[in-house]
Amino acid sequence: MKFFVDTANIDEIRDLADTGLLDGVTTNPSLIAKTGRNFLNVVAEICEVVKGPVSAEVAATDFETMLAEGRKLAGIADNIAVKVPLTRDGLKTCKVLSEGGTMVNVTLCFSANQAILAAKAGATFISPFVGRLDDLATDGMGLIDDICQIYANYPNFTTEVLVASVRSPMHIVDAARIGAHVATVPPAVLWSLFNHPLTDKGLAAFLSDWEKTGQSIL
Ligand code: G3P
Repeated sequence: MKFFVDTANIDEIRDLADTGLLDGVTTNPSLIAKTGRNFLNVVAEICEVVKGPVSAEVAATDFETMLAEGRKLAGIADNIAVKVPLTRDGLKTCKVLSEGGTMVNVTLCFSANQAILAAKAGATFISPFVGRLDDLATDGMGLIDDICQIYANYPNFTTEVLVASVRSPMHIVDAARIGAHVATVPPAVLWSLFNHPLTDKGLAAFLSDWEKTGQSIL
């Protein structure tokens, strides 16, 4: 399973990249707005830190402008995945960019039928938003299960399922159990994956016993 971090904060991205466990980054207009920085500069900086796919979202909603924006974003670095919304124009843009060899992440997916369209449009990633479905008392992880099963029926679908709107470690465990390819996760949730109180307790006991031996390894 690949881990992407869902943030545009370069310091948080650097910290997580240091772990060696980060496979990519996703951004969106809301995350860019939080940084208060220039979009194109931030994205270029992120692409220098992380060599895996870095999603950068178009702002237009019509095909011609989305395509022009997508091409400009793709020109920033080889590891850009242009993010387009799951609309008619978005999928049209996805098809053209994908055929031209650009990675495309189709975002704001809330149904299996939308995911089928994205795969047919050649998306590199489909981003179903599990947390936002859960917020409406709809089973977000059930959608991930449906999409993974549907894609597995068609070997010519190469689109990877990128679980988005992740809110908790349980979302990640459930997505991994289903076999989703990628989860994009807020930094705090990614860091929380390391934690277990029994690890802390066990380590404290080992260290205290080791000290009693008076030995040193180096
Ligand atoms: O990956 C999409 C994500 O940024 C949306 O998350 O928590 O606003 O639903 P959220």
